[in-house]
Amino acid sequence: MAFKSRMDASAKKAGSNIVLALDIIRENREFLLRDSLEILDATNQYLCAVKVNRQLVLPLGLFDGVEKVLRRAKDLGLPTIMDCKINDVGYTNREIARRYFEAGFDAVIVNPFVGWEDGLQPVFELAKELRRGVITLVYMSHKAAWEGYGQTVYDPSKKQNRLQYLVFAEKALSWGADGGVVGATYPEKIREVYHVLGDSVAIYSPGVGAQGGGIRAALKSGARYLIVGRSITRASEPGKAAEKIRDEASKFLRV
Ligand code: XMP
Repeated sequence: MAFKSRMDASAKKAGSNIVLALDIIRENREFLLRDSLEILDATNQYLCAVKVNRQLVLPLGLFDGVEKVLRRAKDLGLPTIMDCKINDVGYTNREIARRYFEAGFDAVIVNPFVGWEDGLQPVFELAKELRRGVITLVYMSHKAAWEGYGQTVYDPSKKQNRLQYLVFAEKALSWGADGGVVGATYPEKIREVYHVLGDSVAIYSPGVGAQGGGIRAALKSGARYLIVGRSITRASEPGKAAEKIRDEASKFLRV
């Protein structure tokens, strides 16, 4: 099944549009793995997918370490996304993606600033071959996002000045991305991007809770999935926190 359809099916089955950002920080690697698996076990029933970042990959290693987390997610029926924001030249990008896919990830996040030819094209081609997903950044969730994603740029194909993130939204469409990331901290940007993407490319939205974004505003503006980390992972009872967020978000579930 293609990644997009797997996400749809998973959201429908769980009645959830919550992607857990499993960003646990522990000095001790054993505790890091143990606590990551524990949080996954406590929250999985309220999730539609799991996103891993370098908070896990660097200390645990991809094979043997993070692979165990991926196997557990798979056993629980959850698709997995690697938030690696791939951002290099084509042959390096392809190898980065190949290793993440080999470890078991279902999708990777890429940075559209590097462009298509000899940039992200090899990643999209590999993902298609392996039936995995590629999600592109469109507008990030942090405060300085405007410095890059919010710039006004000259678009030679249209011979006019345009906003960078709207150009990136169009690229997500034309490249056949499985998703585009827009911060929940900027619901007005989600609305503009949704206007471009419609339901063809799902909007994944991080930044709820810890970064100040609201569940309702992001989903009502057009986000399909919410990426949530610290509000769940740092809660005294991660299961209860995930359930509460799922309940609120499921009022706006579109599957
Ligand atoms: P919190 O704890 O803030 O975690 O709920 C959010 C997770 O998402 C990552 N993040 C992003 N990933 N584009 C991305 O691809 C973004 O704009 C973005 N903003 C936050 C963050 O690193 C963490 O894993």
